[in-house]
Amino acid sequence: MQPCCGNSVCHVLMLVLCLSAAEDFDWTKNNHGSFYYGTFPTGFSWGAGGSAYQTEGAWDKDGKGLSIWDVFSHKKGKIQLNDTGDSSCESYYKIKDDISLMKEIRLNHYRFSISWPRIIPTGVKSDHVNGKGIQFYDELIDHLLENHITPIVTLYHWDLPQVLQEKYGGWQNISMVNHFNDFANLCFEKFGDRVKHWITFNNPWSMAVEGYETGEHAPGLKLRGTGAYRAAHHIIKAHAKVWHTYDTQWRAKQKGLVGISLSGDWGEPVDISNQKDIEAAERYVQFYLGWFATPIFHGDYPQVMKDFVGRKSVQQGLGTSRLPVFSSQEKSYIKGTCDFLGIGHFTTRYITQRNDPTGRSSNSYFTDRDLAELVDPRWPDPGSEWLYSVPWGFRRLLNFVKTQYGNPMIYVTENGVSEKMMCTELCDEWRIQYYKDYINEMLKAIRDGVNVKGYTAWSLLDKFEWDEGYSERFGLYYVDFRNKNKPRYPKASVQFYKRIISSNGFPNQREVENWRRKAVEMCSSSNQLLAADPLTSHMEMVTEIVVPTVCTLSILISAVLLMFLLRRRN
Ligand code: NOJ
Repeated sequence: MQPCCGNSVCHVLMLVLCLSAAEDFDWTKNNHGSFYYGTFPTGFSWGAGGSAYQTEGAWDKDGKGLSIWDVFSHKKGKIQLNDTGDSSCESYYKIKDDISLMKEIRLNHYRFSISWPRIIPTGVKSDHVNGKGIQFYDELIDHLLENHITPIVTLYHWDLPQVLQEKYGGWQNISMVNHFNDFANLCFEKFGDRVKHWITFNNPWSMAVEGYETGEHAPGLKLRGTGAYRAAHHIIKAHAKVWHTYDTQWRAKQKGLVGISLSGDWGEPVDISNQKDIEAAERYVQFYLGWFATPIFHGDYPQVMKDFVGRKSVQQGLGTSRLPVFSSQEKSYIKGTCDFLGIGHFTTRYITQRNDPTGRSSNSYFTDRDLAELVDPRWPDPGSEWLYSVPWGFRRLLNFVKTQYGNPMIYVTENGVSEKMMCTELCDEWRIQYYKDYINEMLKAIRDGVNVKGYTAWSLLDKFEWDEGYSERFGLYYVDFRNKNKPRYPKASVQFYKRIISSNGFPNQREVENWRRKAVEMCSSSNQLLAADPLTSHMEMVTEIVVPTVCTLSILISAVLLMFLLRRRN
C-alpha cells in the first residue's frame, strides 16, 4: 500500500507513527560494543548510599520504636548466623566520620533513609513524635550540606514500625497509606527546607515479594499468590498520595522533587530471534520494574500482568483476579506521580518461555510469569549468590526505561557488587572491574539519549545485608564488625571511584589503567592496618575486661588474706 502523501493530516500521522515506532524498545539488537572513553554531562551527580536499618545501629536508643526488621532479625533462624542490625555500623554515632569518608571520595550526594520508628515510634503520628530522632536527621542533613554533599533521602527503606504490622498487618492493609502519608508529611515539614530529593519507597518489589510472598524478609509472611500483589497495590497508592501531598502542600515553597526507587534486574531473551523468548523476557521485566513503573507513569498495571494473573486466577477457579484493580479515579490520581525515577540495578538473567502449572497449590507471583531464568556460567559472580556481573544489561535496562516511560529523569539509586564475609581483602579488583564496566554502560546509555542525572554507588559501607546478615559486603569501605568501634577501612575501589568522579568519566585507556594500578598498590597498606586490627581488638578486650577483672580479684584476694592474717595474730 502506498503511504498517504501530499496531505498534511497524513504527514502528522506519519510523524506520530514514526515517533512512536522510534520509541519502541528493540529486543532484537544487543550490541555490546567496546569500552567507551568519554565524560559525563557537566553537573552529573556522583554519590554513594546506605539505609537506616542497614547502617545506623542504635536500634533501641533515644526513644526509637521497634521496626519489623528489629523484630524479624531477633527471631532465631531468619538471618545468617542469627545476626541483627542492633549495632551494625553504628552510623548513628558516626555522622562526622562517615561524612569525612564521603569527602575523601568527593561525593556530590549521599543517599540515606529515615527510620520511621526512630521519629514516630509507634508509626502513628498523633501518638508521639520523637524529638531525638528528628534531631539526629537534622544533624546529618546539616553536616552533609556544610560539606557540600546533597542529601537524597528515602522515606521508606523497609523498616515499618512494628506496631503497624501488629495492629493492621502492615502493607496488607490500606490504612498504611494514611499513616505513611502522615510520616512523609512530617519529614517534608521538618527537613524539606534542606532536602530537595525525596524517594518515597526503596525497592517495593522486594518489600512485596520477599516480605509477603516468600517471607525471606520482614515481616516474613508467606501469602503466596496474593500477598505480594496486595502489598504492592497499597504501596503504589501510598506513593501517589505522598507525591500529591508534596505537590499541593510543599512544592511551591520547597521546590524539591519526589520520586520512587525501583529495582530491576534486566531480562534478556535467551534467543533474540525467538518471539516466545522475547515475550518471556518482556514479561520478566514487566512483572519486575513494570509492576510499579507502569501505574506510576501510565496509570495502570502492565497489560501483560493483568492478562497473565487474570487468566491464571480464572483457571484456579477464583471469581476475580489475584491482581487487584485500580478504579478509574485511582488511575488518574496515580498516573504521573514521579518527578524522577530512581533505578536500583545489580544484575541480569537470560529468560526463556516456560509454562507453569496453574493449580491452586502452585499459586505464586513466580509461576504467574510462565518463564525460566538462566545464567551464563561465564558471568563473574564474586559475592552474593544472585549477583552476576553483566554490565551490558544495565544499558539495556536504561534504554528500556527511556522507551517505555517517556524518557524520565533518572537517578541511579543503587549499583554495586558484594564479596563474601570471610574475605578480608581490601584489594577488591573485581569491584573496580564491576564499577568500571557498569558505569561505562551507563555512559553509553546517556549517549543513547537516556536522561540519567546521577549515580549512586551501593554502598558507602559494608553493612547489614538483610537475611544475609553481615555475610555479604557491598561497601566501598570495609567495616570491621568484630571491633565494637566498627572502624572503616578503604578498599581499593574507593581510589578508583574517586578518579572516575574527579575526571567525570573515563579520559583515556592509559589513565584509566593507571588508576586501577595505583588503587591496587595503595590498598596493600590498608590491608596491613586491617590485619593489625584483631590485635587492636584484643588489646581493647585486655584493657576493658581483663584488667578490671584482675584488679577486682586482686583486691578481693588481698582483703581475704589480710583478714586471715589478722585473725591468726589475734
Ligand atoms: C537492594 C536493597 O535496596 C539494598 O538495601 C541492598 O543492600 C541491595 N539490594 C543489595 O542486596
